[in-house]
Amino acid sequence: MPTPNSSTSSAKGFRRAVSELDSKQAEAIMSPRFIGRRQSLIEDARKEREAAAAAAAAAAATEAAESSETIVFEEKDGKAMLNLFFILKGAKTSSLSHALKVFETFEAKIHHLETRPSRKPRAGTTELEYFIRCEVHSSDVSTLMSSIKRVSEEVRSTKEDKFYWFPRKISELDKCHHLVTKFDPDLDLDHPGFSDQAYRQRRKMIAEIAFHYKYGEPIPRVEYRAEEIATWREVYSTLKSLYPTHACKEHLEAFYLLERSCGYSENNIPQLEDVSCFLKERTGFQLRPVAGLLSARDFLSSLAFRVFQCTQYIRHASSPMHSPEPGRDCCHELLGHVPMLADKTFAQFSQDIGLASLGATEEEIEKLATLYWFTVEFGLCKQNGIIKAYGAGLLSSYGELIHSLSDEPEVRNFDPDAAAMQPYQDQNYQPVYFVSESFNDAKDKLRSYAARIKRPFSVKYDPYTHSIDLLDSSQKIHHSLENVRDELHSLIDALNVIS
Ligand SMILES: [Fe+2]
Repeated sequence: MPTPNSSTSSAKGFRRAVSELDSKQAEAIMSPRFIGRRQSLIEDARKEREAAAAAAAAAAATEAAESSETIVFEEKDGKAMLNLFFILKGAKTSSLSHALKVFETFEAKIHHLETRPSRKPRAGTTELEYFIRCEVHSSDVSTLMSSIKRVSEEVRSTKEDKFYWFPRKISELDKCHHLVTKFDPDLDLDHPGFSDQAYRQRRKMIAEIAFHYKYGEPIPRVEYRAEEIATWREVYSTLKSLYPTHACKEHLEAFYLLERSCGYSENNIPQLEDVSCFLKERTGFQLRPVAGLLSARDFLSSLAFRVFQCTQYIRHASSPMHSPEPGRDCCHELLGHVPMLADKTFAQFSQDIGLASLGATEEEIEKLATLYWFTVEFGLCKQNGIIKAYGAGLLSSYGELIHSLSDEPEVRNFDPDAAAMQPYQDQNYQPVYFVSESFNDAKDKLRSYAARIKRPFSVKYDPYTHSIDLLDSSQKIHHSLENVRDELHSLIDALNVIS
């Protein structure tokens, strides 16, 4: 769209129009600020930011006491990260654009914006509360706060609320179903099932179970077809022959129990509901059906509740030894993950990764997902001086299980900081694996890693209510300590009895 000074003729017309105005109007239009707006929107935003900053400076000075309450979550290289909550003044939709204009003016980079029903709706305000996480020049923090206060009410900059939504109760996992479309046979040309309409239909049918599933319901059973059982049989018998020499002892012990009491056999694909009941009795873990590859945040947050999101479909018959979805089919889940989740220490390790992910930043989630990849999926451990596999990606892949324990890959001692940054491979075998001294050692290292993740609160899982307690006040921490004291009394009593 041409601007008044974008061509000679329009510039002449613009000057003529200006000359017809009175001197005050002309001065206003010809002022550098006005012309600047015509020249560049970006320049305009910068100028507005400077103008607003100057105008607000005085206001900021008088509001110094208030501004000092502004909580900067993170400050680095002259940039501050702010978490703001506010309610817009007035019920008009233009109120929002006024508020957003403030962020634009200060060149604030908005990382996250969400709305939710206001906790205290009042007449004359919108019924929504806004949460904005943004990055802004440190020097602009106080003026931005002042400007926001002019267009909104109940402005808070606080640490007391989460930055990224996460489920607080186990039933809220019903909201954690954001699927990643990569590796979907309907969308991925390289998927072995892409050109098989019958397979795609079958996948859709099984996916419907997951889409309709609600927490607390029994997991619907799937009547597997003969060709699906044939695929399972091939995978099952091949992998089982390797387990005695390649799998860790925890996996072997649980696998034996699963065969004895949970329908594991080469001629039967176990039902998720039965397996979930088995796990609940062993470690409190339970399964819930999932349609495909979940977002890392959703998947990890389920682990915090000792819930494992589990696929129910089986890989395509044309590639029984490989599933293109990294670890996503019921062969992988039932043969790789489930036996490990039946071990108490490993279950705690898995839950710890989940707890560390709650409310974490996108950057931290990526690191935790990578850490999960090199432990829960592709981890090795030492047992009696011999390296064994405990990662589900290994225990459900014949080729990679052999590869991981051969001389080919590089094996490094498990270090969470290094593992979290290690480039991973989802199209081929891993060139690098991490070996843990023991699950307890891995658990301790993970806990110290998680403690360094920046969050304004700690979390604790309440196994009685299946909910997450936010330890963000001394009162709550004190209450938790009382529970620990009670538990310690019970353990001391027990020690006294046996001694
Ligand atoms: Fe997996």
